[in-house]
Amino acid sequence: MADIIDGRALAAEIRGEIREEAERFHEETGVRPGLATVLVGADPASDQYVRMKGKAADAASFHSRQITLPGDTPHEQLLGVVQGLNADPEIHGILVQLPLPEQIDEDAILEAVSPAKDVDGFHPVNVGRLAIGDDEVLAPCTPAGIVEMLVRSGHDPKGKHVVVVGRSNIVGKPLALLLLRKGRGGDATVTVAHSRTADLAAMTRDADIVVAAVGRPNTITREMVKEGVVVIDVGSNRIDDPSDERGYRWVGDVDYDGVSRVAAAITPVPGGVGPMTITMLLRNTLEAARRQVAGAGLAEGVVAS
Ligand code: GUN
Repeated sequence: MADIIDGRALAAEIRGEIREEAERFHEETGVRPGLATVLVGADPASDQYVRMKGKAADAASFHSRQITLPGDTPHEQLLGVVQGLNADPEIHGILVQLPLPEQIDEDAILEAVSPAKDVDGFHPVNVGRLAIGDDEVLAPCTPAGIVEMLVRSGHDPKGKHVVVVGRSNIVGKPLALLLLRKGRGGDATVTVAHSRTADLAAMTRDADIVVAAVGRPNTITREMVKEGVVVIDVGSNRIDDPSDERGYRWVGDVDYDGVSRVAAAITPVPGGVGPMTITMLLRNTLEAARRQVAGAGLAEGVVAS
């Protein structure tokens, strides 16, 4: 049976490190890293994600602010909120929860977030920096969490063939770019497969590491992977289950019972990638705060001299 890569335990360990660093930063500068989350509308899943992000920020002794706007908020109003946060010295990281309602131009909103405060790593400037291999960029949280998980669980992707199933801007594409970077957590050989891939099983059978990020249960089955593979399941699908007291349960994109019989290691759902994503959001916010405070100090120094 496969080893279980415990995302909750890894996340708790890293969050402890981040909290200590945040407290030291506060002692040294008088500043708490500040995270603002913006939610438009009342989608229950998005609402839960945003709530968890705010709670995690509080637990790490950050300053956090949650802004919830009605689902019919006009584009210009949301733009104004983002611009206000860009100018707010208490806020170092801004996260606009996706997806946004259809009256809002999502690309324009992501572009309006200051690249320095873009803790999601979705601004085109940061995506471009990631693509050219900049190792100081604020990288998207789910891909960064996956890489951290692989490294910390002893499954370094260096030299391995990683097959990423899914080509979204949030997971598949940035993960491929991270894995291709030189240095820690990178140096992998990467294949990106998607819904139009002709023979997905042929691809995944050749993989040392499979990352499933498509949003459909049972996309990866036992017959599709080789013995000893490492499997990262990014899926989070709510399925009906009358035997559960809530009437539903969460499953990933991987047939966990089948694949865990042949894999060397696998992430569970829930308790795998999810907690790592929020942890990387905290790490990005702390890093953004450090740079903004150092940058402000530099600017004052220039003025004073
Ligand atoms: N919606 C689903 N995943 C994410 C994420 O990582 N960031 C944001 N902002 N929205 C999301």
